[in-house]
Amino acid sequence: MAGSDGPRAGREKGSIGAMNDGAVLIADGKIVAAGPSARVQSHRAAEGATRISAKGGVLTPGFVDAHTHPLFAAPRLDDFEARIGGAAYADLAARGGGILSTVNGVRGALEADLAAGLRRRVADFLACGTTTIEAKSGYGLDLESELKMLRALKTVNERGPLEIVPTLLGAHAVPPELRGRKSDYVKRVCEEMIPRAAAEGLARFADIFCEDGYFDLKDLERVAEAAAKAGLALKVHSEQLSRMGSLPAAVKRKAVTVDHLDHAAEADFAELAASRTVACLVPGSNYFLAKPYPPARRLLDAGAAVALATDFNPGTCPCWDMRTIMSIACTQMKVTPAEALVSATINGAHAAGLGATHGSLEEGKVADLVCHEAEDWRELAYYFGATKTRWTMKRGEIVHGAA
Ligand code: NIG
Ligand code: FE
Repeated sequence: MAGSDGPRAGREKGSIGAMNDGAVLIADGKIVAAGPSARVQSHRAAEGATRISAKGGVLTPGFVDAHTHPLFAAPRLDDFEARIGGAAYADLAARGGGILSTVNGVRGALEADLAAGLRRRVADFLACGTTTIEAKSGYGLDLESELKMLRALKTVNERGPLEIVPTLLGAHAVPPELRGRKSDYVKRVCEEMIPRAAAEGLARFADIFCEDGYFDLKDLERVAEAAAKAGLALKVHSEQLSRMGSLPAAVKRKAVTVDHLDHAAEADFAELAASRTVACLVPGSNYFLAKPYPPARRLLDAGAAVALATDFNPGTCPCWDMRTIMSIACTQMKVTPAEALVSATINGAHAAGLGATHGSLEEGKVADLVCHEAEDWRELAYYFGATKTRWTMKRGEIVHGAA
């Protein structure tokens, strides 16, 4: 839904406000003014300000990666090889791989080790120009392990400088000890995990994987209800491997995002476009799994707000670089470079619940900026596999590279 305070969509879907010779004035970690250099420099607060040149570079908002699963004990290299050999998602799960193998690893890991693993990744995100991520639990699948994951996220967020918006993904898979008892597990998610995560301030969102063999529309209703009661906003892994109808159900439930959408039905796009729900597309997983891409072009043309995210996780998208995702979006889904940039910044911020404060270079917003080594902003989606960031700034401080 287009609108000044909402994500950019419709006529605004590629609206980046690019300019030559722009400037940003920053104080106390916030943007005081942004626009043509001459205007910003004549601002009364500009006097005596330290000058950082971005000459010969391209300045953008920091990327907001609104869908990641970044806490895990080990990469799934066996799954990777098996898939090359022809194994499908369900085959991997059946032979002890898939989500449940990461669950074993996370259950056996100390909270401190999970946090340390993500700490090592923080510099990688910053080096790629990502200043904020949404990050999900979902590899614990019991109360203590899910809380352990959320606490690890909290620790890493507090250490900074990467900002992390936490999501409880209790309903990611039914844990092995409750096999065949999905309803009992959903009860635990709704009656134990969601209230505890909310009460301890450990999550902003609740998410659910709606998929054959995982969770269904009834479960979505239960999770949505519990989340609303606890004050958590809703995200939904929707229509990823097959179509279940979770897209319209999630929109009715005012989900902040519907994610993946590979098998979404065109008949649902108008309703999505009329809502504030953001379509959060993660085409890195399609690339990695060699699956057809989600209908980004048709979603954009139908007026839906689209965000792009990495889905960084050990099973289906071991990529944390938003520029690679922008490249995939442009080349494989016919998203324009401008739409890709909007989707990776301001719409990503909306998808992470931070649209009012993050994701654009506007007065009053946090000073999260990236100076890319590029002569033209379209290069961000053009060169791929070789992100070049001159520096990354979080809340007004350079946290990667040098000016
Ligand atoms: O977004 N769809 C489910 N969840 C993840 C996969 C996680 C995993 O395989 O570990 C996803 O693709
Ligand atoms: Fe995911």
